[in-house]
Amino acid sequence: MDGNGRWARARGLPREEGHERGADSVRTVVRAARKAGIEALTLFAFSSQNWDRPPEEVFHLMELLRRYLVQERDEILGNGIRLVTVGDSERLPPHVRAPLVDLMAASADNRDMVLCLALSYGGREMLTKAVREMCRAAIAGRLDPAEISVETVESYLDSSRLLPPLDLLVRTSGEHRISNFFLWETAYAELHFTEKMWPEFGREDLMAALHDFAGRERRFGHTSEQVRPPAASGGNGGSGESGLD
Ligand code: IPE
Ligand code: MG
Repeated sequence: MDGNGRWARARGLPREEGHERGADSVRTVVRAARKAGIEALTLFAFSSQNWDRPPEEVFHLMELLRRYLVQERDEILGNGIRLVTVGDSERLPPHVRAPLVDLMAASADNRDMVLCLALSYGGREMLTKAVREMCRAAIAGRLDPAEISVETVESYLDSSRLLPPLDLLVRTSGEHRISNFFLWETAYAELHFTEKMWPEFGREDLMAALHDFAGRERRFGHTSEQVRPPAASGGNGGSGESGLD
């Protein structure tokens, strides 16, 4: 979710106003995602690096998050949404942590969609934490370094426990960067970039991103022929491919 500040500045408004409008987009997009049947939606709401913004802006973002958690509680619970987080949420101030922990617990049995908030999140930080924990396990004799596989590393990432594999990453505001988001998880994710600033990103923009995604061929390092479903055999040999594997 990028571009709140620029959206506001372009209109002669304080950055805070951009964040307020950004929160409205969050509401709209969560609703639209739930309606569209998306299994899991992660919102990169606050990065590990965002703590270094001016204190007044950090304070306002925390207040906005607290307000969102309180105001959206009923809608989240009423729509079968399970709220989870990735990141170092221990760093969040108590007045934000309290409604967050409460809503996570209250929504834990919901099954219709996962809404994951990336809070105090950094992809490098998460990978570093995983390395730290793997080293600890190795020293304690619980993990054999020779046995460490891609799956092992994955099992040390919270995202793998909480979320299905990442299919699509949407970045707003015309920036073409990952910016320390899901570094591991984006390995084979499809990337969608839009010039729209986050406060102006709405339902149609989410649908456009999904449409873009639906047109991609995901090969995961294989060839087109390997991943394409075999052509229906009409008997006239039109496709030229046998469809046999
Ligand atoms: C995204 O908008 C919101 C957060 C990162 C919290 P920005 O605040 O990054 O907006 P720009 O990039 O300054 O326009
Ligand atoms: Mg930004």
